[in-house]
Order: sequence, then C-alpha cells, then structure tokens
Amino acid sequence: MSKKICVIGTGYVGLIAAVGLADFGNEVIASDVDERKIEGLKQGRVPFYEPGIQGYLERNVNSGRLSFTTDQGRGIRRAEVVFIAVGTPGQEDGQADLSLVEQVVEIIAANLNAYKVIVCKSTVPIGTNRKIKNRLKALLKAADREAEFDVVSNPEFLREGRGVYDFFHPDRTVLGCESERSRQVMTDVYRTLNLISTPFVWCNPETAELIKYASNAFLAAKITFINQMANLAEAAGADIHVIAKAMGMDGRISPKFLHPGPGYGGSCFPKDTQALVKTGEAWGVDMSLIRTVIEANEEQKMRMVRKFTGLLGGDLTNKTAAVLGLTFKSETDDIRESPAIKIVAALLKAGARVQAHDPQGMANFSRLFPEVKCCQDEFEALAGADGVLLLTEWNEYRSLDLHKAGNVMREKIILDTRNLLDPREVRAWGFVYQGVGRGEAPAGQ
Ligand code: UDX
Repeated sequence: MSKKICVIGTGYVGLIAAVGLADFGNEVIASDVDERKIEGLKQGRVPFYEPGIQGYLERNVNSGRLSFTTDQGRGIRRAEVVFIAVGTPGQEDGQADLSLVEQVVEIIAANLNAYKVIVCKSTVPIGTNRKIKNRLKALLKAADREAEFDVVSNPEFLREGRGVYDFFHPDRTVLGCESERSRQVMTDVYRTLNLISTPFVWCNPETAELIKYASNAFLAAKITFINQMANLAEAAGADIHVIAKAMGMDGRISPKFLHPGPGYGGSCFPKDTQALVKTGEAWGVDMSLIRTVIEANEEQKMRMVRKFTGLLGGDLTNKTAAVLGLTFKSETDDIRESPAIKIVAALLKAGARVQAHDPQGMANFSRLFPEVKCCQDEFEALAGADGVLLLTEWNEYRSLDLHKAGNVMREKIILDTRNLLDPREVRAWGFVYQGVGRGEAPAGQ
C-alpha cells in the first residue's frame, strides 16, 4: 500500500528521496524552510545540478503525487511517514552539527497527531536515532500529550551526479528499526525496490548508523591507499593503472574506487571520516587508521601543488596557472571540500595568477575565490598559461584539443591529476606531462 510521506529538507538527499518516493507511487509533500527554494521547486526549478532529476520532478508534480510546502507542520500532520533529510555539516572540531535535526524533532513533536514512522536519512553519529526517540518522548511528556511513533534509521548511499540512478538501483537498503509495525510501514514505502530484489538489511539503529560511516570511511581509505601506491609507483617507475587493474582482478578487492587522483573531496567522505574519528574518541576506541587517511588525503592535495611547482621550475611568482576542473568530481556543481580549493589557495599564496574553467562549478567557486579568473571555455583558461592542472575528470577534458591548447599556452606543461590524457599522445604534441602514479622505468635498465 502506498503511503503519505513528508520529506523535511529539499537539499540533495531530501529532494532525490522526495521525487523517488513519489515515483514509487507514494503521496509525498516535500518541505523546506527556504521559501525561495520551495517557490522555485513549485515552478519546476531544481536548486542544484544533478543529471536526470528534472524529468522525475516534472512527472511526479504533474501526476499530483509530489507537492512542496514551507509549512512543515502541515506536511507532518498529513503524513504517515516523516523523512528527516536536513544537513548535518561538519563543525570546526570535526563533529557533525545536529542543530537542524534537533529543530526538526521539535516540529515533529508538536505535530504528532497520530502514529507516524520518523525516518532519519541525514547522516548522524551513532546513537542519534535513539536520542531522537528519547527526545520525542520527552517533548510529548512535557506537553502532556500521548502519541505513538517509531524512529527508523535509513542512511543514504547516493553518489552525487548519479543520485537519481542510485535511488532507483541501490546496492542495498539499510533500515535500522526496532518494531514490527515500523518494519511493515517501511516495507510498503520501499515496495518497488523489494520487487526488483534489492537486498534489505534490517538491523538496530546503531548498526544502521555505523554502516553508513564504515562504508564511507572504507571507500575513503581505499582511495587513499591507491593514491599512496600511485605515489610509490611514480617514484619507482611502475604504472598504477596496471597495478590497480591486477589488484581489482582479485574478487576480494574489486576494481572500483582504485582510481588515483588529487585526493577525495565532496560533502561526505571528508565530513564522515572526521566525524568517525570524533566518535571513536567519544567511545575511547582507536580510529588511527581513519585519522591517517584524513592526513594522507590532505597531503595528496599538497603533493599536487609541489609537483606543479616543480614542473614550472620551482617558483610560481608571477606565473599563470590554468586550472581545468573545480568541482570535487564530474557531473556536479558541488565544490564542497573539492581538492581544487586547497590547491588553488596554495597556488595563489605562492604568487601565481589562476585562470580556471569548470562546466558547472564556476559560480560556486568564484564566490570563494573572487581573485580567480573564471573563463568561458578551457582555451580561455589556457591562454598565456605557464602550465595547466587538470583537477576534475569532466569528459570534455578527456578530449582536449592538444594542438589548440599548445598554441594558446605560453609553456606547454600539463599536470594531469586524474590521468585523463594519454601521456604518449600529449608528449607527442610537445608537452611536458605528468600524471599520478604513471611512472617510467629508470633510464638504461
Ligand atoms: C560518496 C559515496 O560514494 C556515497 O555512497 C555517499 O552516500 C556519499 O559520498 P560522492 O561524495 O557523491 O558519494 O562521490 P564519490 O563518487 O563516492 O567520490 C568521492 C570522492 O572520491 C571524489 O572526490 C572522487 O573524485 C574521489 N574518488 C572516487 C577518487 O579519487 N578515486 C576513486 O577511485 C573514486
């Protein structure tokens, strides 16, 4: 049976969940305190870049299954299931900021007019779902009201740029839930996924919360592992791509997430690894592996700066650096924790001028770095440059016109931090080229 659902928060996670749950046949009200965002959504405007979401938004709004409101209370009162999908940004000390979740819990308590399942999709530290349950109980008691509810932890594993696909084709759906009644409700909500045989992992809320952190920390560690192997391969004259391919042939390792680069970024890995270290400290459990991953990832970004500086003769004063790619990965306009932020800051500090291009990320980037010249296309960014850093794996950079690039650059130097280009071809066009982990055997051996 389809359900009446309210999704609170129309950011990346909330909006994709809202359109996806509506597409499953549920009746969904998505709410947000941001009036402009809700007004835009009512008119069919998605507030971020994400391939594929527009069509699903239009289809479900037109069918009447999806609507938007700023009146969170009304949305909650009408719903049988309330999804919490507000942000939990990292704070200075690494801990997740739960103030938005706490505010939403107060609003839910005030509008709990019948049995509801409260589903937490936001990434929250271990123990938070139980705290939500206890807080709701306390708020109801203080107001001298009685209402039944269950709290379910349902972490998301969406990849930006592929979020819509991932919503409809998850590797697994994790549900931390403790009552048969809420289990039945969640089975109805995700009935469509059940039909396509998506594995469901039923567990307690603490397990669900830790599955999310453990998965992200593992992937962050895997990337960091291959980055360090790439650095070693580079020094020793080995080829990291052959190494990664051969490693990936071992079914226990898998070839995914073994692509070296300038360090991971984004809204999840950096924040979640930091939070996991903090959680370990709180429980008195050693998280030294994850701490090392965080440090090594920062070092990887600085390594790119040192490599580029070396390629340009050791001094960036008054040099012009072209930067292609500003977002933390392709197919998104998100620059949160993008390696480009630390790398560009270091280039500027070393006295370089920076000319940049990104297909989606320039508006966000120029708010942080007004001194960076954002260019209409890659060739404007390359014009007069003493070297170029390729920082994001946008497809259009893979097929960069090297002849044209060479003609507009002052010096033909490329640091390809994503290994997008074919080194032999680039060198054949007269460029000095370096990738990551693409070592060459020592001469004469
Ligand atoms: C990630 C998780 O994949 C997702 O399950 C979770 O819910 C949120 O965090 P996302 O941040 O969108 O998703 O990006 P992802 O594609 O996982 O990449 C994260 C970072 O790692 C990017 O900066 C990417 O460039 C980098 N990366 C990824 C590598 O450097 N090498 C790889 O092999 C894979």
